[in-house]
Amino acid sequence: MSDVLTFIDENLGRFRAELYDFLRIPSISAKSEHDADTRAAAEWFSERLREAGLTTETLTTPGHPIVIGEWQGAGPDAPTVLIYGHYDVQPPEPLELWTSPPFEPTERNGRIYARGSADDKGQLYMHVKALEAHLATGSQLPVNVVVLAEGEEEVGSPNLVPFVEANLERLACDLVLISDTGMFAEGLPSLLFSLRGLAYFEIHVHGARSDLHSGEYGGAVRNPGNALAQIIASLHDSDGRVAIPGFYDDVVEWDEETRAQIAALPHVDADFARALELDDLAGESGYGTLERLWIRPTCDINGILCGYTGEGAKTVLPNHALAKVSFRLVPDQNPDRVKGLLEAHLAAVAPTGVTVEIRELHGGRPWRASVSGPAFEAASEALEEAFGTKPVPMGGGGSIPIVVEFEEKLGATALLVGFSLPGCNLHAPDEWLPIENYEKGISALALLYGKLG
Ligand code: BES
Ligand code: MN
Ligand code: MN
Repeated sequence: MSDVLTFIDENLGRFRAELYDFLRIPSISAKSEHDADTRAAAEWFSERLREAGLTTETLTTPGHPIVIGEWQGAGPDAPTVLIYGHYDVQPPEPLELWTSPPFEPTERNGRIYARGSADDKGQLYMHVKALEAHLATGSQLPVNVVVLAEGEEEVGSPNLVPFVEANLERLACDLVLISDTGMFAEGLPSLLFSLRGLAYFEIHVHGARSDLHSGEYGGAVRNPGNALAQIIASLHDSDGRVAIPGFYDDVVEWDEETRAQIAALPHVDADFARALELDDLAGESGYGTLERLWIRPTCDINGILCGYTGEGAKTVLPNHALAKVSFRLVPDQNPDRVKGLLEAHLAAVAPTGVTVEIRELHGGRPWRASVSGPAFEAASEALEEAFGTKPVPMGGGGSIPIVVEFEEKLGATALLVGFSLPGCNLHAPDEWLPIENYEKGISALALLYGKLG
C-alpha cells in the first residue's frame, strides 16, 4: 500500500493539472447548445479511464452519454465495486458574480475555483486517480471495479434507470461507492447516513383569456397572482410545518442514537447564520438546524413568475402565474404519494375563478444508509488514515435519486464518501473544492479500495 501512496504523492501536480483540463470543458447538461461539450467531457473522461488501465465504453442514450470503465483483474471470486459519479455540471449563471470565469479553473487560498470542481467532476476524478495509483504500481487491488459516469445527474438522470435495468449483469456489484457529497467541516471527514429525496412541481394558475386592465377588471375578476399567493401561503403552518394533509404520514422519526450523534457534531447556529450573512434561522419547530437539514422534509418555492416585473408601473391583471415548488423528502416518503397529496390539497384550497394545474418535474426517493458492516468500517479506517481524524456520521440534505435505485436493482449497498465542504458554492457562483481534500481524498479512496477485499 505504501507504493500506492507514494505514487499518489509523486503525481499530485499532474493529477491537479489533469482535473483542470476536465473542468475547462463546459459540460452543462441542461443546455442543448452545450451538447457537444457534454459529449466531449464524456470522451475526455473515458480516455483518462483507459489510460488508468480500465477498459472503457462510451454508450449513447437518448440524452447524454454514459461512460463505463471496467477492471476485472481481481478475478471472478473477488467482490466488485461500482463507482458512480457525474461529469455534467449546473449552468454557471449569473456569470458576473464569478471572481474568475467558471470554466477557467483558478487556485486561490488553497481552493480550486471552477464549475464542477466539487459537484462532481473533481470528486469523480479522484476515483480515477486512486485507481490509476493501484494499477500503475501493480498493487494487487483486491476488488473488481466498474466505473459508471453519467452526464445527466443535474437534470434528474432521466435515462439512467432504464440503462441500469438493461445492464443488470454488467453492473452487478457488491458495493456502490459514490463521492458526490461533502464533509461536515474542514479537516473532518464524514460518512453519510442519509440523503433526502425530491419531488419537484410547477403550479400553474390560469385566469382570463388574456391580461386585463387592472382598473377595468380588478376587484371583479380573480387575479391568478393573488390566487397563487393564497395557495403558496397554504403550504406551511405557523410552526414551519408543511400544511398539506397527510404529508408527514410516512415520515420516520429517527432513532435516538442517530439524533444523539447529530447533536454531538460541532455545530453552532450563530456561526452557521453568520456564514450566510443572515441574522436568524427558520424552520420546523421542535428540531435543530442539522435535523431540519437532514432528517426532516421541506417544501420550498424555487421560483415565481407572474405579471409585469419590468421598469416602472404597468397596471395589469395578469392571466397566468407560475410557481416552481420542490419538496425534500425523508424516509419513508415517496414522491408519487406526495404528488397525490399536493393535488388533493390544491383542489381543496384553490379559489374559484381560476384553474390550477400541476406539472411534475423530476423526483427521487430518499435514502437511508446501513451504517455498519465491513465496507462502512473500511471507509472509516481509510478516511482516518488519510485525514488523521476519525470520520463523523452526517446526513445529506441534497438528493441523488439513483442511489436507492442502484441498491434495489443491483441488490448492493451504497456507501457515500464525499469531499466538498459547507460553503463551497455547489450550483452557485464561485464553486470551489479544497486542494487538500482533492489530494487527501485520492489517498483515502486508494486506501479504501485496498481494504475492500
Ligand atoms: N451532488 C448533488 C447532491 C448533494 C449535494 C447531496 C450536497 C448532498 C449534499 C447533486 O449533484 C445534486 O445537485 N442533486 C440535485 C437533485 C437532482 C435530481 C437535480 C439536488 O439535490 O438538488
Ligand atoms: Mn452532484
Ligand atoms: Mn448538483
